[in-house]
Amino acid sequence: MEIKNLAIFISGSGTNLQEIIDKSRNGYLKANIKLVVSDNENAYGLKRAKNAKIDTFIVKNYKELLSELDKREIDLIVLAGFLSIVPKDFIDSFKGHILNIHPSLIPKYCGKGMYGSKVHELVLENKEGISGVTVHFVDDKIDHGTIIARDFVPVYNSDKLEDLERRIHKTEHRIYPRIIKTLLEGDIIEK
Ligand code: GRF
Repeated sequence: MEIKNLAIFISGSGTNLQEIIDKSRNGYLKANIKLVVSDNENAYGLKRAKNAKIDTFIVKNYKELLSELDKREIDLIVLAGFLSIVPKDFIDSFKGHILNIHPSLIPKYCGKGMYGSKVHELVLENKEGISGVTVHFVDDKIDHGTIIARDFVPVYNSDKLEDLERRIHKTEHRIYPRIIKTLLEGDIIEK
């Protein structure tokens, strides 16, 4: 099978990025991570990329970013905790080749301002018995494109924010590489 080229976009810690790096290095993913893109030059994920000797790019201008991606013949863009809103033109250029992971069961707890701990705080506040993770294609609306997979995560009465956050992250680390693998083995694009 042909090795596909990935670009991973992050803004923060990059634990999902690390999973994808590890699983491409151990052969689980037939992927070459060509570029890690961030909108935050202090993102810890950039250190992870540098440790793995992967090129990094701080995005200020999406036209420049497009040319960096073209140069590297990127097949799939993986958003992994990327907090900026990606411009419509950019999405159109890569339509059907951009994935995102969201730490709730979309359409619940998603949309503008709904990211990170905020999601889990509200889930706990509303005493939801269940939360989860959603992987979807990216379109020009926030947390909105076609859903590829969801995984459910229990919420317990005794949960503190960090308990739920940890459980969700663990599920993300399992589901995201698995979905990426499936897409890489097929023809990736959303039909
Ligand atoms: C994850 O919870 C993901 O669902 C969301 O951003 C977070 C990124 O976490 N989109 P990390 O930086 O990969 O640890």
